[in-house]
Amino acid sequence: MSELTTTHTIDTATGKEAPAELSTERVKAIFSSIARKYELFNAVSSFGAYRRWLDGMMLQAPILPHHDVLDIAGGTGDVSRWVAKAKRPAHIQCTDLVPEMLEVARAHKARGDFGNVPIDFDVVDAQNIPYADESYDIITMAYGIRNMPDRPRALAEMYRVLKPGGALVCLEFSTPPNPAWRMLYRFYLKHLIPFWGGLITGDKAGFVYLAESIRAFPDQRGLADMMEEAGFHDITWKNYTGGIAAVHVAEK
Ligand SMILES: C[S@@+](CC[C@H](N)C(=O)[O-])C[C@H]1O[C@@H](n2cnc3c(N)ncnc32)[C@H](O)[C@@H]1O
Repeated sequence: MSELTTTHTIDTATGKEAPAELSTERVKAIFSSIARKYELFNAVSSFGAYRRWLDGMMLQAPILPHHDVLDIAGGTGDVSRWVAKAKRPAHIQCTDLVPEMLEVARAHKARGDFGNVPIDFDVVDAQNIPYADESYDIITMAYGIRNMPDRPRALAEMYRVLKPGGALVCLEFSTPPNPAWRMLYRFYLKHLIPFWGGLITGDKAGFVYLAESIRAFPDQRGLADMMEEAGFHDITWKNYTGGIAAVHVAEK
C-alpha cells in the first residue's frame, strides 16, 4: 500500500467530504448489530429480488473452475455461496470489515452451504487489503463499495491484488433510468426501507443510513468512471429490476 496515497474521504451517507472514521465507525456499528438478521432483511425488503440479482451476477462473472476468487465485503457469505454453487472455483477467500458478519458466513460453512469448495474467511478492510499484488483471478463485491469512505483507494487496492486478465464483478444499488420508476423507488427507499429494517432488526437508524447512502451513490456511469480511474478497462454493466441494482464487470 505504501505507494498509494490517501485520497479525500467522504461521508457515505451524503457523498460530502468527511473524515473516514465517521463512515467506518457507523458501518461497523450497523453491521455488527444486525449481522444475525441481515439475510432475513435482504429477503423481505427486496421481495426476494436479491436472489435474481445474484443469479445475474453469476451469469456475468467470468469465473472458471481453476480460479481463486476474492469476495470483498462478503458479509454473511451470500455472494460466496452463489459463487460456490454456480461456479465451483478452486478456492474462495471471503472477507469483510466486520467480524460479526463473517461469523454468520462461518456458520454457513459449518452447515455445508458452500458444498465442497474450499473457503477461508478473513477480516479485511477493502481500503487496505493485506494480500500480495496479482494474487486473485476474480474479485466479487456486492453492496460493498457504497459503504466505503475512500472508494478510489478501495478500487485501487482491488486492482492491485487482481491478476492481469482478471476482473472485478460488482453488484450495487444504482439509479433507475426511467424517471417514474426512479421516483417510486426513492419513495420506497425513504419510507419503507427504514420501516422494514426497524421491524426486522430493531435498528431503524441503520436503514435510514442505507436509504441515504443509496441516494448519494453515483449512478451506473459514475461507478464505471471510478473503476476506470482506478485502472480498470472494458467496463460493462447490466441493470436489474429497471436499474434498482446493476452489476458492473471491470477488467484488469
Ligand atoms: C450490505 S452488506 C453486503 C454483504 C454481502 N456482500 C451481501 O451481498 O450480502 C455490506 C458489507 O460491507 C462491509 N463493509 C463495509 N465497509 C467495508 C470495508 N471498508 N471493507 C470491507 N468490508 C466493508 C460491511 O461490513 C457489510 O458486511
